[in-house]
Amino acid sequence: MLKKLIRKNEQTISNDLMKRKEIAQQEQLPDHIAIIMDGNGRWAKKRSLPRVAGHYEGMKTVKKITRFANEIGIKTLTLYAFSTENWKRPKLEVDFLMRLPEEFLGTYLPELIEQNVRVKMMGNIETLPEHTKRAVMKAMERTASNDGLILNFALNYGSRDEIVQAVQKIVNEVQEGKISTDTVSEELIDNYLMTKDLSEPDLLIRTSGEVRLSNFMLWQLAYTEFWFTDTLWPDFDEACLMDAIESYQKRNRRYGGLKGEEVN
Ligand code: FPP
Repeated sequence: MLKKLIRKNEQTISNDLMKRKEIAQQEQLPDHIAIIMDGNGRWAKKRSLPRVAGHYEGMKTVKKITRFANEIGIKTLTLYAFSTENWKRPKLEVDFLMRLPEEFLGTYLPELIEQNVRVKMMGNIETLPEHTKRAVMKAMERTASNDGLILNFALNYGSRDEIVQAVQKIVNEVQEGKISTDTVSEELIDNYLMTKDLSEPDLLIRTSGEVRLSNFMLWQLAYTEFWFTDTLWPDFDEACLMDAIESYQKRNRRYGGLKGEEVN
């Protein structure tokens, strides 16, 4: 009896989600969604589990959200998986986080290939442990010709570091006479960032109730719509993503200008 009731309830939830998905697909979807996945540690603490258990659960959410984002028609999903500042965490936690890409890709890569997902990474790949680098490179190579959803991991990524690297490259090229200072423009800077082949995020999501950017895509988020939720990342699900998308679809993006009807 109870099992039947639970199944009926799940069916109602999934029908409701399907309806919301169909309605959202009739309007402008965000092409690029970027997510600061936060709250894994608190999720674990609430259950008296070690922090790494929260990260493991967070990895499962990554699978769920990637599948759903692909299904709904999102073009790019950027996930902040490890920042240049996260090295300050205890070694055990860092080692665990560095194993997650392998764990994730080890079980999920065939599905990503089948689903036409292209895996990308932004961040300093050179200073990652060999095993992490190998797993990520393999996934990037094996999915390079896919043209569906771009699943872009920000791994060992820091926005200030990215900007410093871009400035260094530009200065070098000016010194070598390859470009002149008067060609330095927003477009040129875009081309020296780790996101040079991606569109700017339309929607930024941060979970767990924290309302800050934590050194994430500072340049690229200039005109992005922000959406914050108290939900901890391991509890984030398809319905939460729909909440964020529906909120985005009600926004009035003006990019500093006015909408047509407001001009007079
Ligand atoms: C922040 O939560 C989360 C991280 C630093 C790691 C995020 C990583 C994942 C969600 C898994 C990544 C999966 C793949 C496939 C690479 P926190 O630990 O700071 O949480 P807290 O603020 O509650 O302590």
